[in-house]
Amino acid sequence: MPDPRFIAIEGGEGAGKSRLQTALGARLSADGYDVLLTREPGGTPLGERVRDILLAERAAGYPLAELMLFEAARAQLVADVLRPALDAGRVVLCDRYAASSVAYQGFGRGLGRDLVERANAIATSGLMPGLTLLLDLPVEQGLARRGGEGAVNHFDAEETAFHERVRQGYLELARESPDAWRVIDAAQPFEAVLDTAYDAALSVLREHR
Ligand code: TYD
Repeated sequence: MPDPRFIAIEGGEGAGKSRLQTALGARLSADGYDVLLTREPGGTPLGERVRDILLAERAAGYPLAELMLFEAARAQLVADVLRPALDAGRVVLCDRYAASSVAYQGFGRGLGRDLVERANAIATSGLMPGLTLLLDLPVEQGLARRGGEGAVNHFDAEETAFHERVRQGYLELARESPDAWRVIDAAQPFEAVLDTAYDAALSVLREHR
Protein backbone atom coordinates (compact mmCIF):
# COMPACT_ATOMS: atom_id res chain seq x y z
CA MET A 1 0.00 0.00 0.00
CA PRO A 2 1.35 3.47 -0.83
CA ASP A 3 1.93 5.59 2.26
CA PRO A 4 1.55 9.33 1.56
CA ARG A 5 4.17 10.26 4.16
CA PHE A 6 6.73 8.05 2.47
CA ILE A 7 8.65 9.87 -0.27
CA ALA A 8 11.34 8.17 -2.35
CA ILE A 9 13.98 10.04 -4.33
CA GLU A 10 15.21 8.20 -7.41
CA GLY A 11 17.45 8.83 -10.37
CA GLY A 12 20.64 7.85 -12.10
CA GLU A 13 24.20 8.66 -11.17
CA GLY A 14 25.02 12.30 -10.51
CA ALA A 15 21.42 13.50 -10.57
CA GLY A 16 21.71 15.21 -7.16
CA LYS A 17 19.50 12.98 -5.05
CA SER A 18 21.31 13.35 -1.78
CA ARG A 19 21.56 17.13 -2.07
CA LEU A 20 17.83 17.27 -2.77
CA GLN A 21 17.08 14.96 0.15
CA THR A 22 18.94 17.22 2.59
CA ALA A 23 17.40 20.45 1.29
CA LEU A 24 13.86 19.08 1.02
CA GLY A 25 14.14 17.60 4.49
CA ALA A 26 15.17 21.01 5.85
CA ARG A 27 12.22 22.76 4.21
CA LEU A 28 9.68 20.24 5.44
CA SER A 29 11.17 20.35 8.94
CA ALA A 30 10.89 24.15 8.91
CA ASP A 31 7.19 23.66 8.11
CA GLY A 32 6.83 21.56 11.25
CA TYR A 33 6.97 18.07 9.77
CA ASP A 34 8.92 15.49 11.72
CA VAL A 35 11.22 14.23 8.95
CA LEU A 36 13.42 11.17 8.83
CA LEU A 37 16.15 10.89 6.17
CA THR A 38 17.41 7.48 5.21
CA ARG A 39 18.95 5.74 2.23
CA GLU A 40 19.33 2.54 0.28
CA PRO A 41 21.30 0.44 0.31
CA GLY A 42 21.97 1.22 3.96
CA GLY A 43 20.00 2.81 6.75
CA THR A 44 20.50 -0.07 9.21
CA PRO A 45 23.66 -1.76 10.50
CA LEU A 46 22.96 -4.76 8.26
CA GLY A 47 22.11 -2.51 5.33
CA GLU A 48 25.35 -0.55 5.68
CA ARG A 49 27.35 -3.78 5.68
CA VAL A 50 25.51 -4.99 2.60
CA ARG A 51 26.14 -1.58 1.02
CA ASP A 52 29.88 -2.01 1.54
CA ILE A 53 29.75 -5.37 -0.22
CA LEU A 54 27.64 -4.06 -3.08
CA LEU A 55 29.62 -0.89 -3.74
CA ALA A 56 33.19 -1.95 -3.06
CA GLU A 57 33.47 -4.10 -6.11
CA ARG A 58 31.22 -6.09 -8.33
CA ALA A 59 30.91 -8.61 -5.52
CA ALA A 60 27.89 -10.35 -6.96
CA GLY A 61 28.79 -11.41 -10.47
CA TYR A 62 25.42 -13.07 -10.79
CA PRO A 63 22.67 -10.44 -11.16
CA LEU A 64 20.13 -12.44 -9.16
CA ALA A 65 22.54 -12.60 -6.21
CA GLU A 66 23.09 -8.85 -6.47
CA LEU A 67 19.33 -8.29 -6.46
CA MET A 68 18.90 -10.46 -3.37
CA LEU A 69 21.52 -8.46 -1.48
CA PHE A 70 19.65 -5.23 -2.23
CA GLU A 71 16.42 -6.93 -1.16
CA ALA A 72 17.95 -8.17 2.10
CA ALA A 73 19.02 -4.64 2.99
CA ARG A 74 15.57 -3.36 1.98
CA ALA A 75 13.67 -5.88 4.12
CA GLN A 76 15.71 -4.86 7.17
CA LEU A 77 15.15 -1.15 6.47
CA VAL A 78 11.38 -1.60 6.10
CA ALA A 79 11.13 -3.53 9.37
CA ASP A 80 13.51 -1.50 11.53
CA VAL A 81 13.25 2.03 10.16
CA LEU A 82 10.50 2.75 7.65
CA ARG A 83 7.49 1.13 9.28
CA PRO A 84 8.27 2.37 12.81
CA ALA A 85 8.82 5.93 11.55
CA LEU A 86 5.64 5.98 9.46
CA ASP A 87 3.64 4.42 12.31
CA ALA A 88 4.91 7.23 14.53
CA GLY A 89 3.54 9.78 12.04
CA ARG A 90 6.90 10.88 10.67
CA VAL A 91 7.60 11.87 7.08
CA VAL A 92 10.29 9.67 5.52
CA LEU A 93 12.56 10.82 2.69
CA CYS A 94 14.41 7.82 1.32
CA ASP A 95 17.33 8.20 -1.10
CA ARG A 96 16.50 5.25 -3.40
CA TYR A 97 14.01 2.45 -2.75
CA ALA A 98 12.39 -0.44 -4.60
CA ALA A 99 12.26 1.38 -7.96
CA SER A 100 16.07 1.43 -7.97
CA SER A 101 16.05 -2.35 -8.19
CA VAL A 102 13.54 -2.31 -11.04
CA ALA A 103 15.65 0.24 -12.92
CA TYR A 104 19.15 -1.14 -12.17
CA GLN A 105 18.64 -4.88 -11.81
CA GLY A 106 15.46 -5.24 -13.88
CA PHE A 107 16.32 -2.96 -16.81
CA GLY A 108 20.07 -2.36 -16.36
CA ARG A 109 21.15 -5.91 -15.63
CA GLY A 110 18.32 -7.40 -17.66
CA LEU A 111 16.61 -9.44 -14.93
CA GLY A 112 13.28 -8.11 -16.13
CA ARG A 113 10.68 -6.07 -14.40
CA ASP A 114 8.39 -8.88 -13.34
CA LEU A 115 10.98 -10.82 -11.38
CA VAL A 116 12.27 -7.69 -9.62
CA GLU A 117 8.77 -6.54 -8.73
CA ARG A 118 8.03 -9.92 -7.17
CA ALA A 119 11.22 -9.72 -5.11
CA ASN A 120 10.36 -6.13 -4.12
CA ALA A 121 6.88 -7.18 -3.00
CA ILE A 122 8.40 -9.76 -0.65
CA ALA A 123 11.13 -7.49 0.75
CA THR A 124 8.86 -4.47 1.26
CA SER A 125 5.82 -6.47 2.41
CA GLY A 126 3.92 -4.12 0.14
CA LEU A 127 5.12 -0.80 1.59
CA MET A 128 5.34 1.68 -1.27
CA PRO A 129 5.99 5.42 -1.39
CA GLY A 130 3.06 7.76 -1.85
CA LEU A 131 5.34 9.91 -3.97
CA THR A 132 8.48 9.15 -5.95
CA LEU A 133 10.58 12.10 -7.11
CA LEU A 134 12.55 11.10 -10.19
CA LEU A 135 15.56 13.30 -10.91
CA ASP A 136 15.95 12.76 -14.61
CA LEU A 137 19.14 13.69 -16.42
CA PRO A 138 20.74 12.65 -19.71
CA VAL A 139 23.22 9.85 -18.97
CA GLU A 140 26.29 11.68 -20.22
CA GLN A 141 25.57 14.68 -18.00
CA GLY A 142 25.05 12.54 -14.92
CA LEU A 143 28.25 10.60 -15.42
CA ALA A 144 30.21 13.80 -16.06
CA ARG A 145 28.90 15.30 -12.80
CA ARG A 146 29.67 12.13 -10.91
CA GLY A 147 33.17 11.93 -12.36
CA GLY A 148 33.77 15.48 -11.15
CA GLU A 149 32.86 14.47 -7.59
CA GLY A 150 35.27 11.58 -7.63
CA ALA A 151 32.70 9.41 -5.80
CA VAL A 152 32.93 6.52 -8.16
CA ASN A 153 31.60 3.02 -7.48
CA HIS A 154 31.46 0.14 -9.90
CA PHE A 155 27.92 1.02 -10.99
CA ASP A 156 29.25 4.39 -12.21
CA ALA A 157 31.79 2.48 -14.27
CA GLU A 158 29.13 0.50 -16.18
CA GLU A 159 28.87 1.22 -19.88
CA THR A 160 26.68 4.06 -21.12
CA ALA A 161 24.13 1.60 -22.49
CA PHE A 162 23.58 0.24 -18.98
CA HIS A 163 22.81 3.71 -17.64
CA GLU A 164 20.57 4.39 -20.61
CA ARG A 165 18.51 1.28 -19.80
CA VAL A 166 18.29 2.41 -16.18
CA ARG A 167 17.04 5.83 -17.26
CA GLN A 168 14.45 4.39 -19.63
CA GLY A 169 13.32 1.96 -16.94
CA TYR A 170 12.68 4.80 -14.52
CA LEU A 171 10.81 6.79 -17.15
CA GLU A 172 8.61 3.80 -17.92
CA LEU A 173 7.68 3.44 -14.25
CA ALA A 174 6.94 7.16 -14.01
CA ARG A 175 4.77 7.15 -17.13
CA GLU A 176 2.69 4.31 -15.75
CA SER A 177 1.92 5.96 -12.42
CA PRO A 178 1.66 9.68 -13.03
CA ASP A 179 -0.20 10.24 -9.74
CA ALA A 180 2.55 8.71 -7.63
CA TRP A 181 5.59 9.92 -9.59
CA ARG A 182 6.95 13.35 -10.37
CA VAL A 183 9.64 13.56 -13.03
CA ILE A 184 11.95 16.51 -12.37
CA ASP A 185 14.43 17.82 -14.93
CA ALA A 186 17.65 17.57 -12.94
CA ALA A 187 19.53 19.72 -15.46
CA GLN A 188 17.73 22.79 -14.08
CA PRO A 189 19.34 24.99 -11.44
CA PHE A 190 19.12 23.30 -8.05
CA GLU A 191 16.64 25.84 -6.62
CA ALA A 192 14.16 24.98 -9.38
CA VAL A 193 14.58 21.27 -8.70
CA LEU A 194 14.00 21.87 -5.00
CA ASP A 195 10.92 24.05 -5.56
CA THR A 196 9.31 21.43 -7.79
CA ALA A 197 10.08 18.65 -5.33
CA TYR A 198 8.75 20.72 -2.43
CA ASP A 199 5.47 21.52 -4.22
CA ALA A 200 4.97 17.85 -5.08
CA ALA A 201 5.72 16.76 -1.52
CA LEU A 202 3.38 19.33 0.02
CA SER A 203 0.54 18.38 -2.24
CA VAL A 204 0.63 14.70 -1.22
CA LEU A 205 1.20 15.55 2.45
CA ARG A 206 -1.67 18.05 2.57
CA GLU A 207 -4.04 15.84 0.66
CA HIS A 208 -3.65 13.13 3.30
CA ARG A 209 -3.32 15.18 6.41
P1 TYD B 1 25.32 5.36 -4.13
O1 TYD B 1 26.72 5.69 -3.80
O2 TYD B 1 24.28 5.56 -3.08
O3 TYD B 1 24.96 6.07 -5.46
P2 TYD B 1 23.98 7.24 -5.76
O4 TYD B 1 24.60 8.43 -5.12
O5 TYD B 1 23.96 7.26 -7.24
O6 TYD B 1 22.66 6.86 -5.16
O7 TYD B 1 25.29 3.86 -4.64
C1 TYD B 1 24.17 3.15 -4.81
C2 TYD B 1 24.34 2.36 -6.07
O8 TYD B 1 23.58 1.15 -5.98
C3 TYD B 1 23.86 3.11 -7.28
O9 TYD B 1 24.79 2.98 -8.32
C4 TYD B 1 22.59 2.38 -7.67
C5 TYD B 1 22.77 1.02 -7.11
N1 TYD B 1 21.50 0.36 -6.70
C6 TYD B 1 21.05 -0.72 -7.41
O10 TYD B 1 21.66 -1.14 -8.39
N2 TYD B 1 19.90 -1.35 -7.01
C7 TYD B 1 19.18 -0.95 -5.92
O11 TYD B 1 18.13 -1.54 -5.58
C8 TYD B 1 19.69 0.17 -5.17
C9 TYD B 1 18.96 0.64 -3.95
C10 TYD B 1 20.85 0.80 -5.60
